[in-house]
Amino acid sequence: MSICNVFIKNSKVIGDNRGNLISLEQLSEEVPFNIQRVYYIYNTNEERRGFHAHKDLQQILVCVSGSCKIHCDNAFETEEYTLDDPSKLLYIGNDVWREMYDFSKDCVLMVLASKVYNEDDYIRNYNDFVSYRKGD
Ligand code: TYD
Repeated sequence: MSICNVFIKNSKVIGDNRGNLISLEQLSEEVPFNIQRVYYIYNTNEERRGFHAHKDLQQILVCVSGSCKIHCDNAFETEEYTLDDPSKLLYIGNDVWREMYDFSKDCVLMVLASKVYNEDDYIRNYNDFVSYRKGD
């Protein structure tokens, strides 16, 4: 199952007897935007993170180690995604509320983003997000 503006994609894995390699390139089938920023979240605990949406930001989330879950909500429908393999890519487009949770001890969640950090692009209040989405 997927919701509008969110999808899971499996990246190509280049594997041989030495191990696996995954290469992600901007403006590719896997990453349909220019990458202006990469950040990663690690040393997490039981605290949920996220609790925001972006008005103009595309992202790809990938657990390069361990696992976590992502709750996505576009104000009309919600879906939970499990990232538990470095080849699993979660694309999140504009106007999607997200929360990250259930981090494994070894979780490293890497995010590729289409824009540099801009706090003005965030909607950090859930009621504001729903009003924005429903045009109130
Ligand atoms: P925050 O939005 O709370 O993280 P999460 O979405 O995981 O809950 O960000 C934590 C802090 O880091 C906050 O002060 C903003 C800052 N930050 C940056 O400076 N650059 C970035 O690229 C990101 C994602 C956050």
